[in-house]
Amino acid sequence: MSVDLLLNDATVVVGGREEVRSIGVKSDKIEGIYPIGQEPSANRVIDCSNLYVLPGMVDIHVHLRDLEQEAQEDYRTGTMAAAAGGVTTVLDMPNSVPPVLSRDVLDKKIANAELNRYVNVGFYAGIPKRVEDFDETLVPDILGLKVYPHAPLTEGTKYTRRRIEDCLALAKQHGLPLMFHPDSSNKNAPILTIQDHFVVHDCDSECESLKRFIDAKRRIDGRIHVCHVSCASAARLIAQSRAEDSLTAEVTPHHLLLSGDQFPNNDGVAKMLPPLRSPYDHQVLRQMLCDKCAIDCVASDHAPHTEEKKRAEFLKAASGIPGLETTVPLLLTQVFDGRLSWVDYLRVCCSVPAEIVGLSDKGVLAKGYDADIIVVSREEYRIRGDRFFSKAKITPFEGYRVLARPVMTIVGGEIVFSHGRFVIEAGRAGRVPLRKR
Ligand code: NCD
Ligand code: ZN
Ligand code: ZN
Ligand code: ZN
Repeated sequence: MSVDLLLNDATVVVGGREEVRSIGVKSDKIEGIYPIGQEPSANRVIDCSNLYVLPGMVDIHVHLRDLEQEAQEDYRTGTMAAAAGGVTTVLDMPNSVPPVLSRDVLDKKIANAELNRYVNVGFYAGIPKRVEDFDETLVPDILGLKVYPHAPLTEGTKYTRRRIEDCLALAKQHGLPLMFHPDSSNKNAPILTIQDHFVVHDCDSECESLKRFIDAKRRIDGRIHVCHVSCASAARLIAQSRAEDSLTAEVTPHHLLLSGDQFPNNDGVAKMLPPLRSPYDHQVLRQMLCDKCAIDCVASDHAPHTEEKKRAEFLKAASGIPGLETTVPLLLTQVFDGRLSWVDYLRVCCSVPAEIVGLSDKGVLAKGYDADIIVVSREEYRIRGDRFFSKAKITPFEGYRVLARPVMTIVGGEIVFSHGRFVIEAGRAGRVPLRKR
């Protein structure tokens, strides 16, 4: 028996401990994890001594833009950012221009992603103003339905109790999770001062929205996923309301690590929704990231905008920051700093996000799983936005110290990225669109 690729003498995590092993890849699958000296023969051997070999991150909250927003990001730059950042699977949000509400838009996105991808790409769809108008032919090619109660994808849609229940019933009918951005603010609320922005999108607004969805779930009993939980109070609400896995939630690295008062109020660099909160919220969110607690996984909410839109004065600046090239280094820094266990890292960045969207052969470094693998060097450096492959180079983590660098990325058994360079053409590795299995 022989394998196509052997990653030799790597540090891997076995039972929560670091052990030295070799990893065999055959075609697009992991063939085995071998003790040193018991490796099969291989067509290609890569020495990974003093390097970590881990499953690539499965990032279930990413905005790759494209279509009419190519100035912000496209499938090529967005998936390059993913691969360079140690993310091997991305799920693309439907709030593009035009939004994903019909087959033709999804088809264009699939076609562009297929041609230009460096990693696996899956999709979400939105829900039209009249829920009955939902195009069921989208279902096989999406992994969830996404709603933005405060900024609906169709003008004038109000998230009344009825609408929320109908959306949840639709998701349930098709066996998909309903992903939502918890924010109950009124789109027409006047935002005249910087303070207004933080008041309108405050923790009460996050909790209020969360309560409405949890309430609907009591009646409809579908599966709900809460995007970017940012407040201690919201995390507590989730903790109180969940008995099983039909209510899941994610946190972003910026809501775990950055607080609003670290940034001058007059620049847009750290403007995002939900806004950055306080160190107290970080502490509670971190506690809630444990097994079977309120927060199940980490997602980047990679939300690229043009430099002009980020450099604008606060009220005019766009909300959203890039995250694909910082999330894995930041979370692994938590591991190397002793603030997060290996078991928790692997769960929140890899296996659980894959489970939430039904990708049962991703997110684990073990025989039979997809060969979506990253090689990581433990080294200290500072985050620099001008080094990003993403078109969005302005990050609130500029200058932040990290301790982990993804040096090689393997997608579906193919080496995609190696030591700062892309070593394969776009459109060759990985699957588009990802389907449930
Ligand atoms: C996101 C975007 O720009 O698409 N912005 C953000 O601030 N997070 C939208 C979103 O995730 O709500
Ligand atoms: Zn959002
Ligand atoms: Zn939003
Ligand atoms: Zn988002």
